[in-house]
Amino acid sequence: MVDWKNPPRLFIPGPVHVLPDVLQQLSRYTLGHRGKEYAQLHKETVDMLKKILFTEQNVFLSTSSASGIWEGAIRNCVDSNETVLATCCGAFSDKWADVVKSCGKNVEALKVEWGQATTAELIDKKLSEGKYSAITLVYNETSTGLTNPVYEISEMMKKKYPDVLVFVDAVSAMVGLPLHFDQLGWDVVFASVQKAFAIPPGLTVFAVSKRALEKSKKVAGRGYYFDFQEFAKCAEKDQTPTTPSIPHIMALNYQCHKLVNEGIENVWKRHKEMAAYVKNWAKQRFALFCEEKYASETLTTIKNTKGIVVGDVIKAVQAKHNTAFGNGYGKLKDVTFRIAHMGDITLQDVKEVCQWIDDEVK
Ligand SMILES: Cc1ncc(COP(=O)(O)O)c(C=O)c1O
Repeated sequence: MVDWKNPPRLFIPGPVHVLPDVLQQLSRYTLGHRGKEYAQLHKETVDMLKKILFTEQNVFLSTSSASGIWEGAIRNCVDSNETVLATCCGAFSDKWADVVKSCGKNVEALKVEWGQATTAELIDKKLSEGKYSAITLVYNETSTGLTNPVYEISEMMKKKYPDVLVFVDAVSAMVGLPLHFDQLGWDVVFASVQKAFAIPPGLTVFAVSKRALEKSKKVAGRGYYFDFQEFAKCAEKDQTPTTPSIPHIMALNYQCHKLVNEGIENVWKRHKEMAAYVKNWAKQRFALFCEEKYASETLTTIKNTKGIVVGDVIKAVQAKHNTAFGNGYGKLKDVTFRIAHMGDITLQDVKEVCQWIDDEVK
């Protein structure tokens, strides 16, 4: 049983640990979502997000988890006679390829082994076939702890395939890793708030380029809940199409103030420092699951080279320190484990978790 007065500290790769002052934001009084006060809250939040994401284009708030925008990007921006190239390098990128198919659109997968990166060269080779109108990319593959070289990919795309739309899942990347939306030339990017924003799950931030929004006007079967045209229409009044989770938006507003005050480059730096510590710790005791150059700065996936019983170590750390870290994901369960280092935690927090694992593993 969870002791609600003494909740566990989460170092799983989402939902991550949420600080008490952030939780308090979720219990403020409720506003009417068509009123002036809400519009102010919405506008202020979106304006801060535009700074954080380095964009002057559209930023929308969806009361859903990020998977909704997996679907939204496809249903809004891909015509039924077009084909999407889905890049697949782990559980989440694989799943997105399935989602494209389930939306009734044509998809071809560009697969690499789990733990390998999807490189600009691989994408270039595939796109040179000339039959794709959009690609899906996962910035940070949470199952393998791998960061794809999205800046290199984007440079290549801008030069060689400027007409191919780029949809990016930045679920475990946004605010933890650099993200300059306009400069990268992306068309849709999104993240749910339970990762580096360090807010409880239930809301997703997403940005849409002007050209993607324009294209969506003519795409049939956009559906209702994730219709980008509806989001754009309501954004003009600083509103969302349907009743949003206002408590989440209050918490997001609060977190955005903190991010802007800390300075987003400093936030990325803090993540880099925490990652460097964990990677070093992991290399001395175990091994990194991915090539170091691609190992993520928001979570580390560690190869269980010592054959520890991961579940037992997780249970022991939880019992003694009320702190949870993550087992491997899907087929990587037990052969890897994951430590998340994103959100409002500090290097000191991360050092503690590593020490507690050491105490159990010896
Ligand atoms: C990379 C990535 N994409 C998508 C998802 C799905 O996000 P959500 O659970 O918010 O729908 C996750 C969840 O962990 C993820 O890590």
